[in-house]
Amino acid sequence: MGLENWGPHDATKFLAFTANVYRDLYPAIDPARPELRQEGKIVVITGASRGLGQLGFAASFAVAGASAIVLTGRSVDGLKETEQLITKTNPAVRVLCIPLDVTDEHAVNTAFEEIHTKLGTPHVLINNAGILAPPNTITGSNLDTWWAVHEVNIKGPFLVTRAFLHLTGPHPERPTTIINLTSSSSMGTPPGLSPYSMSKTTMYKFTGFLSAEYPDITSVTYDPGVVATDMSRSVGYLKTVSRDTPELSGGAAVWLASGDKKYLSGRVFFANWDVDEVERRKDEIVEQNLLTLWMKGGCGRPGRGCEELWERPGVMFQCINVWMRVNHVRV
Ligand SMILES: NC(=O)c1ccc[n+]([C@@H]2O[C@H](COP(=O)([O-])OP(=O)(O)OC[C@H]3O[C@@H](n4cnc5c(N)ncnc54)[C@H](OP(=O)(O)O)[C@@H]3O)[C@@H](O)[C@H]2O)c1
Repeated sequence: MGLENWGPHDATKFLAFTANVYRDLYPAIDPARPELRQEGKIVVITGASRGLGQLGFAASFAVAGASAIVLTGRSVDGLKETEQLITKTNPAVRVLCIPLDVTDEHAVNTAFEEIHTKLGTPHVLINNAGILAPPNTITGSNLDTWWAVHEVNIKGPFLVTRAFLHLTGPHPERPTTIINLTSSSSMGTPPGLSPYSMSKTTMYKFTGFLSAEYPDITSVTYDPGVVATDMSRSVGYLKTVSRDTPELSGGAAVWLASGDKKYLSGRVFFANWDVDEVERRKDEIVEQNLLTLWMKGGCGRPGRGCEELWERPGVMFQCINVWMRVNHVRV
């Protein structure tokens, strides 16, 4: 079956880790649930001036009762609109709007100084700001346009996360979560989307490094589903499949920031997946090191003396880390 014949739910089901998939808010991820309450938490959202940052993450963390939400993005009007939405949803939430470009190192560092002075140490970071270049082949692409996607989608999360970590330190006293936005386009090689798909694939490695270097912080690569926003509307074939609601993306992010989700650290998680099944399968996920990037074929195959490890990639991963320690590979 060609992609042109796919129904609106086929891609979501095809990429599902769980038997059930959801495309709208459901009880387990409802941010109004007492178990998901974000009281006492300071949440930083990049790209909060419209789209998912506004209608998904800001709105859902407001419902969940975060103490303060920091909104960043370039559009001052957009940030004000999001602030009004939060205040209408939950007037008890403190809101701090900081207009900035995520690729501007000085602006990002200054923003986190302001956050620290006005609110204290943040607990949740959502690296949501992103751009998508108009679809084009590699030879048809203009360098500046192609590279700008990497600047916003990779350099941006790097700068913001680094400033966030400078405040939290490696061993935060309170549970701390970093959510890095990826996209299902990173699962394949959709012609014309090379800079976007590549930059979103980089988030898997970035999250992996965060998890390896800051094991006390839960870092997850997050696919928010396919939601009708300025971005998804700019890609023709996404129009029919953009059926997920911003409430789904926001509610699942609140779920990720609640309770102990260490077992998902360094891994990818899709908003569409059934969280009850994910919870039930947590031992399997950790033991087999699932939901991570792993090369097909090749290394560790039978006959190389590590068959037992190959059966259990989680153990293999730990062995590589031990090997690095034994050989004095240090950070
Ligand atoms: N929508 C989907 O179906 C979908 C699916 C998979 C993944 N995603 C990911 O979800 C995230 C949000 O996407 P969206 O659909 O909500 O997109 P959107 O509606 O186009 O919103 C993008 C947000 O990023 C901000 N932004 C862009 N460049 C920026 C920069 N240089 N500095 C600071 N902020 C910047 C924009 O704010 P300003 O213009 O005000 O700066 C805006 O708030 C992206 O990372 C995207 O890749 C979306």
